[in-house]
Amino acid sequence: MDIEEIKGTKVLKVRNKEDLEALEEAGELIRRGELVAFPTETVYGLGGNALDPEAAGKIYAAKGRPSDNPLIVHVAHPAEIEPLVRAVPEVAERLMARFWPGPLTLIFPARPEVPRRTTGGLDTVAIRLPSHPVALAFLAAARRPVAGPSANLSGRPSPTTAGHVITDLAGRVAMIIDGGHTGVGVESTVLDVTVDPPQILRPGGVTLEELREVVPDVTVDPTTVEDTPPAIGRVRAPGMKYKHYAPEADVIVFEGPPERIEERIRALYDEYAAQGRKVAIMATAETAGAYGERRTAVVGARSDLGSIANNLFDFLRRFDAAGVEVVLAEGVEMVGLGLAVMNRLRKAAGYHIVKV
Ligand code: TXA
Ligand code: MG
Repeated sequence: MDIEEIKGTKVLKVRNKEDLEALEEAGELIRRGELVAFPTETVYGLGGNALDPEAAGKIYAAKGRPSDNPLIVHVAHPAEIEPLVRAVPEVAERLMARFWPGPLTLIFPARPEVPRRTTGGLDTVAIRLPSHPVALAFLAAARRPVAGPSANLSGRPSPTTAGHVITDLAGRVAMIIDGGHTGVGVESTVLDVTVDPPQILRPGGVTLEELREVVPDVTVDPTTVEDTPPAIGRVRAPGMKYKHYAPEADVIVFEGPPERIEERIRALYDEYAAQGRKVAIMATAETAGAYGERRTAVVGARSDLGSIANNLFDFLRRFDAAGVEVVLAEGVEMVGLGLAVMNRLRKAAGYHIVKV
């Protein structure tokens, strides 16, 4: 067992089954109303007791997050949703059976017992059952539902390593559980099952195509797939209206056929470089060869959009660490995990999109 302390925050490294026992202390911290960051299969979460309004308040403060942005409640077992929700639609039963544990968050009508500080003042509550073994052991140790937004400072890219969480939150939380690099790399899909047919409010780890196998008529909140910034009144998931995922560098996304993208990126790169700006290209395995000696990072492969989802947030943070001022990012096809990747990338770019 490996424990260190950084700025007063305990960092607990969990790498094997035996280490899971040490999570008892993390559970105790949650029961005492403290905050614990934990790994999930999507991104790291910033956990606090979901039934304690003061813990919810601490989460908003630690993240610097607007308090009208509701938190996702994490449970270790499907039966734990009963005390939290007023009704479980039949379609939700089928979705839970198929996708839990896993990266699918469902929106239910909330019981009055769920603090409105946790739900951002809404009468609905978002719940998910993660599949990461460390998350499940931590939730079991907490013995209560844990509210957990992504464990980044508000506005920054979501954390996919404990190092990202340490950068953003050391000194602001009691403990960070280090479970290594997360698997999916983008957040869970948020699906509203209080409407008929159910609607995707945030594309994520469970794809639209997968959801359609269970709910053929599922719809998508149009603001999540548009290429212009959403008008605030139209966004259904409150969190989707805020500036998010943004590194310090300016990001420009290029959308269109890969050969045209390559051409435009090369030209723009050379213009920026001539102005003396530090510029970098976020490319894919298939296209990286087109950029010659230019500063290029391969985020993943177009043939495996999951690889791009997995590295996206880490790469956005790395450009900042390397002092890059302008990132020219290749867009990918909006299918499968590409839907979530493009939603995050467009936001990271503040919707600075070049269509080629
Ligand atoms: O993968 C994930 O979902 C990660 C891990 C830690 O579980 N969590 C996460 O939480 O991404 P957060 O708070 O960063 O994003 C939650 C999103 C926000 O866009 C929020 O507005 C939306 O879900 N949301 C939460 N409760 C909602 C509700 N009752 N109605 C509509 N949207 C809701
Ligand atoms: Mg977030």
